[in-house]
Amino acid sequence: MSFPDTYLKDEVSTAEPLVFPPLDPHVPRPLSPVQEEVLRLKRERGAVILAHNYQVDEIQQVADFVGDSLGLAYKAAETAAEVIAFCGVHFMAETAKIVNPTKTVLLPEPAAGCSLSDSCPAEQLAAYKAAHPNLYVAAYINCSADVKAISDVICTSGNAARIIGLIPPDREILFVPDQNLGQWVSKQTGRAMRLWPGSCYAHVLYSVRAIENARARFPSAPVVAHPECVEAVRDTADIVCSTEKMVAYCRENPAQTFIIVTETGMINRLRREVPGKTFVAGPTDSCGCNDCRFMKMNSIEKLRDCLLTLEPRVELSASIAAAAAAPIQRMLEWSR
Ligand code: 13P
Ligand code: SF4
Repeated sequence: MSFPDTYLKDEVSTAEPLVFPPLDPHVPRPLSPVQEEVLRLKRERGAVILAHNYQVDEIQQVADFVGDSLGLAYKAAETAAEVIAFCGVHFMAETAKIVNPTKTVLLPEPAAGCSLSDSCPAEQLAAYKAAHPNLYVAAYINCSADVKAISDVICTSGNAARIIGLIPPDREILFVPDQNLGQWVSKQTGRAMRLWPGSCYAHVLYSVRAIENARARFPSAPVVAHPECVEAVRDTADIVCSTEKMVAYCRENPAQTFIIVTETGMINRLRREVPGKTFVAGPTDSCGCNDCRFMKMNSIEKLRDCLLTLEPRVELSASIAAAAAAPIQRMLEWSR
C-alpha cells in the first residue's frame, strides 16, 4: 500500500487508527522516474488514465481523472481517447469497455477482482430470475458484465437512491449483489426490495467497537462511512455516502479532522483535494487501516508496463457487451 510520508502511530493496540496529517504545501512532491515514464507513454499512446479513489497515490497523481464508480463510468463514456488505461478493479474496467466496445481498455493487473462482484455469479442470478420472472433487477455496478447483461438497471453508491426511486412502483425489485448498500437504499427510499446476500469483504470488517475507539480519540471528528459497511456501522456514522461525496462533505464541513470509514486509498485523494485537514483511517478490530487487496494489486510499474505493451486488455463478447450496455445507459440517463 502507499503509506503517507508522515503518520502518527500510537503504541496502544494494532487497531489504533492511522492518522494522516495535512500535506505540507511547501514540501514539493516531484514525480518519480516511473511516473514520468507513464506520462510520456500516455502521450505517445494517446491514452487516458482513469483511476478509482482507492488506488495508490503514485497512480492517482498521474491519472487524468480520479473518482468514484459513477464519475469513472461517465468519463469512460465521454472520452475521445482510443486507449483507456483503467486503474481500478475488473468490473470497473469492464464497464469502460462496455461503453467503448471498439476502444482498447487496459487493466494493469487483470487479477484485480472484487469479492462483491464474485458474490453474485451470473448463472445463479439467471436461475433466480427464471424462478421469479417478474422481478425488476437493479444491479450495483460492482458486478460482472454477465450479471449486468441480465439486469434491468445499474446503479452506483453515488446514485442508488435516485435510480431506485425511478423504478416503476408496481415492479418488485431484486437488488444485487450488495445486501448492505441495498438495505441502506431501501431505508432511504422507503422501497422494499429483495436483497442478494452479497457483501464487500473489506467494508464488512469495520465494527462499531473499532469506530467508537477512534471516535473516543477524536471526539469532534465526523465519522464518514461508505454504504457497503454493515448497518450498525452506518448507523453510528455522521454521514454515509459514496467516495466522491466524501470529498465534498469533508471540504464543506468546518471540522478539521475526519474519520474515514472506507478503503484507505481514499485518503490520498482527500489529502490532495481537501488541504489543511487531518484524516483518520477507519480502523477494523485488527488493523489501523483497511486496504482492498484487489484495488492494491495495481501498481505504478504495472501501469507503465500496460502502456508500453498495450496489454492486458479487457475483452468482451459483442453480445454480452451489447446486452450489458442497455442497463448502464439507462443509469447514465436516469442519473443526469
Ligand atoms: P464508490 O463508487 O463509492 O467509489 O465505491 C466503489 C467501491 O468499490 C466501494 O468499495
Ligand atoms: Fe470490491 Fe470491496 Fe474492493 Fe470495493 S473495496 S473493489 S467492493 S472488494
